Formats: sequence, C-alpha cells, structure tokens
Amino acid sequence: MSQTESTDRGNWNSKLGFILAAAGSAVGLGNIWRFPTETAANGGGAFLIVYLICSFLIGFPVMMAGISIGRRTNKNPVGAFKQLASNRLYILIGIWAVICGTMILSFYTVIAGWTFSYIIEEIFYGLGLQHWASWISDTENGWINAVFSVAFMSCTIAIIRSGVSDGIERATKVLMPMLLVILVALIGYVVIHPDSSEGLAMYLQPDFSKINADLIFAAMGQAFFSLSLGMGAIITYGSYLDKKENIPQVAAMVTTFDVLVAFLAGLLILPAMFMAQSSGISIFQDGALVAGPELIFKVLPSLFHNLGGTLGTVVGITFFALLSMAALTSTISLLEVPVSYVIDEHGYKRKKVALFVGLFILLISLFISFKVSLIGTFDFIFSQAGLPVSGVLICLFLSYVWKVDNAFDEIESGYENFRHTILGKVWQVFIMFICPVVILYNLVTSFL
Ligand code: PHE
Repeated sequence: MSQTESTDRGNWNSKLGFILAAAGSAVGLGNIWRFPTETAANGGGAFLIVYLICSFLIGFPVMMAGISIGRRTNKNPVGAFKQLASNRLYILIGIWAVICGTMILSFYTVIAGWTFSYIIEEIFYGLGLQHWASWISDTENGWINAVFSVAFMSCTIAIIRSGVSDGIERATKVLMPMLLVILVALIGYVVIHPDSSEGLAMYLQPDFSKINADLIFAAMGQAFFSLSLGMGAIITYGSYLDKKENIPQVAAMVTTFDVLVAFLAGLLILPAMFMAQSSGISIFQDGALVAGPELIFKVLPSLFHNLGGTLGTVVGITFFALLSMAALTSTISLLEVPVSYVIDEHGYKRKKVALFVGLFILLISLFISFKVSLIGTFDFIFSQAGLPVSGVLICLFLSYVWKVDNAFDEIESGYENFRHTILGKVWQVFIMFICPVVILYNLVTSFL
C-alpha cells in the first residue's frame, strides 16, 4: 500500500479507538429513535424479545464476518469482494451495500437534523418563546428540515475530510457514558410517574401472540440497522483494525453495548409515551400506538416540558445535544463507506471525495426534507429489506466463496486456535447455515 493511500485510508490508534468508533457507529438514532418506534408499532415486549434474539444470534455472527472480511482485505466493501473472489460478479454484494448506506444516510441526515432543531426548540421553550419553539420544531416544514440537514451534513463532511480523528475518538469516550447517565436518570424520573405504568407493562410483559412474520421481519431489520450491518460500515471499519485484535471479543462488546442502549431507550420512551398522553398528546391512532418517524420528537419534548423550569430546559438541551452526537458518530460511518470506496478504487484525495460524495447525498436529503413521508419508504427498502438481504449475501459469500477456513485464519491472528473453540464451531454453523436460512426464510415469509 502506498504512503498516500495509507494516510488517506487512516487507521485506528488503538483497540479502544476501534471499539469506540464501531460502537459510535452502532449507537445512534437507530437505538433512540428507531427502536422505540418499531417497538411501539409492533406490540411492545414481544418485539423486544425477538429483537434481542436477532441481535445476538444473527447480528453478532454477521458482525464478526464483516470485520474479518474488512481486516483481511484492508479495503472498502466493493474492493474487499473484488479481492477475495475470482468472479467479478461478487462485487455486486459490495455495490448493494454501498447503495444501502448511501440511501440510509440521505434520510438519516434529515432526522439527525431534527436533533439540532430540537436543541434550539428547548432553548426557545426555556426562554418562554413557545411560539418560536413550535415553529422551529415543525418536522413537516421543508425549509427548516433543509437548513438543519445542511448543517448536519456539513459536520459529517468536516469530520470525514480530516480522517477519523483522535478528536472524535476522544469525544465519544466522554459522550457515550454521558448519554447513558442521562438515559438512566430520565428512566428513573419516568418510571416512578404513575401514568407511565401502562407503557412499562407493554414493554416488559411480552404478549407472545403478537409474534408473526411481520414482527420478525421488523425485528431483524432493526437489529441490522442498529448494529450498522449489511451496508459496509463494519467491513470498512474492520479494514482499519490491527491484526492483533480479537475479533470475537470486539464484536461482542459492540453488540452488547448497542443492545443495552436500545433496551434503555425503550424503557424510557414507551412509558414516556403514556405520560405524554396525560399531557394531551395523542399516542393512539385507529386503536394502535402511533409510531411515525416524528413520534419520539413529540414525546420527548413533552417529557422535558413536564419536568418544568430550568431543570427541564437543561435536561432537554443536554439530551438533544447528546443525541445529535450519537447521530453524528453514525453518519460519519455511513459517509465513510462510499468515501473509502471512491478513495480506494479511484485513487482520489480524501478531502475532495468527502466533499463531493457528501454533497451528492445531501441533494437526496434536501429532496426528502420536503417530502418527509419518503423516510418510511426508504427505510423499508434500504434498511428493513436491504440490510438483511446484504447480510445473507455476506454469510453465503464468506462460507462458500471465500471459505470459512480463510476467515478462521484471519480471526486467529488475534485469537489463537479460534476454530477449535466452542464459540468458533458454533460461529461456523451459524454463518454457514443458520444465519442465511433464518434471514432468507424471514424475508420470504414476510413478502409472501
Ligand atoms: N447503527 C446506526 C444507528 O443505530 C445507523 C447506521 C446504520 C449506521 C448502518 C451505519 C450503518 O443509528
């Protein structure tokens, strides 16, 4: 690898750097916005259980596969498949991953923009400017959406232009624990409130009769989205990982942390929805919980306003500031995928590529800003269906084209004798048979 190439590709400074960056990619709006929304739309506790199973039994093995492919090749997803297979056709898997990532980033940016506008909403509200607060937080206002999408994409581009810096690694180290503390504190406040008990019960007492093909489809899509799987982010981040690192261990840490944050977010949002109802926000429509993309952006502010006074304002501002940081560490990883593809495959300079690719995706975001209903459609095609499709292809590719033995060789550079351990054997069975069959079965049954 030439000097410029390696400088432009970058590397993690440490194992912690990788874990933080990968956890930063995983923990984002998917945990705090998408997970509670999906849980509300799919019958509460039953969804939680299926989601946990999908994350640990399907997501975790696929994450190990992605990191191994990335680290073996030191390449972006397209380059990685090109290098590992003799047949050019396989690069289509990488191309599909890059397309999913690009399209997800386009709508993710609009929602991430809301985290910015809600920081200002909280400030206005705290200053008693209710009228301005509701004006700036109108998620149907295309112009406001557009302005904040531009702001958010600019931050993402700025970070990607300078490489994955120590700055962001250091920032995540402080911000992630802070996010956890605030989440736990808010949960404490919410669960002792009498109006929240119905939401708690809905979340923690699963009604197994609700489990059907649609629910499993949604839970699988959520697990892939939240763990940043199936669109090349993990392959790309794995490509910067040192050979001596233990892949099963880092994948387990990232998965556990991500699932924990999602679980906590559900523990906050579902009970908070019922509290919000008592303050006049309608949370039911046609007998079911409303679960549109804007849902949590209505529920959370009403919670902060209920807290009242300076405390409510401070908590509100801090929460949305942290949420925007969590979103930013995810958008970075989403933009890094197409950027690393163009750098690796076409040899252009990182700074230029980051700007042009970012601006191109921003154009799609601007379009979505004025047609917010597209978020659901894009999310369905590129996250719920697109990511698991790509997950199946990665499993099949690793097992039958690249071959599990080669993956074992790669993993063993940081975990001696992995193939002879129980985990190694179980992983092999999952990657070769269980994951592809379960994901495919799930995709087919829900489409039928
Ligand atoms: N995992 C991120 C989240 O939960 C979203 C994401 C998806 C990031 C795919 C990168 C790749 O918010």
